Amino acid sequence: RSVSRGLGDVYKRQVKNYEKMSEKAAALLFAQITLKPDAVLGLATGSTPVGTYRKLTELYRAGRLDCSHITTVNLDEYLGLSAGHPQSYRSFMRKNLFDGIGLSADRTFFPEIPESLSDCRKNTSTSIVGIRNETIQDVETALAEACRRYDKLLRSLGGTDLQLLGIGRNGHIGFNEPGDTFIRNTHTVMLAENTRQANARFFSSIDDVPTRACTMGIGGIFSAKKILLLANGAQKAQALQAAFCGPVTPQVPASILQLHPDVTVIADEAAGQLLADGLSARRKPTFAVP
Ligand code: GLP
Repeated sequence: RSVSRGLGDVYKRQVKNYEKMSEKAAALLFAQITLKPDAVLGLATGSTPVGTYRKLTELYRAGRLDCSHITTVNLDEYLGLSAGHPQSYRSFMRKNLFDGIGLSADRTFFPEIPESLSDCRKNTSTSIVGIRNETIQDVETALAEACRRYDKLLRSLGGTDLQLLGIGRNGHIGFNEPGDTFIRNTHTVMLAENTRQANARFFSSIDDVPTRACTMGIGGIFSAKKILLLANGAQKAQALQAAFCGPVTPQVPASILQLHPDVTVIADEAAGQLLADGLSARRKPTFAVP
């Protein structure tokens, strides 16, 4: 159970297992909401935060948590799934948190994919198949506009008070996938094949996993006053090590968190197994030219 301070202001807290990680994360969110009842929370999807959301729901049911004044902004959304699709991130959040804490839809925000784009089943980097009555260019223009609107919303909220993050096995945060550059603004992205494979467990087959998504960029994530990154399981160990013990590089998008002034990482033993010495041994970030 070490609590160590390492790179810049990254705090690492290693806990035994998923249950403990979820308890600690929920305690931090609980404290944030208690201190600032109208907090803006940046939220994440995936298996990692489900336990945290469950604990928050329990606190709400016990009458200890009032979420009626918080606002939430989610990191990302798939393209090609309707908002009501069971695997859309909007549905995920409703099921795993919002319904359980009585949060009304008008306080929860996602990149707004225009409805007419939500029916498409497949999309590629240059085209979206299945769109009716719209040219590809119209679609791309509408998506770019949706991305701009999301950044505008984030600015109007003054950024987030606390951003919760998971981490992809390839080091992605939100859907900021490894690449040649960090992308500052909200943008659409082709999902990496290993990300689609990792997320296939939520769908009936890999063919059903969207190929494209819309994600908050690094600038939106950095608008957070505090960042809380959670990781559990051995399959995250290398990504965590690369993110916090290696150079800052867009090949490992999470590595840029080394430059944020207030990051806490809570990792279970399996995910944190390669971090033990790395975090405490290094004080300053190093950089790799992409
Ligand atoms: C997803 C999400 C990320 C999430 C990551 C890890 O695709 N876009 O926000 O952190 O991948 O997911 P999981 O927690 O299921 O391992």
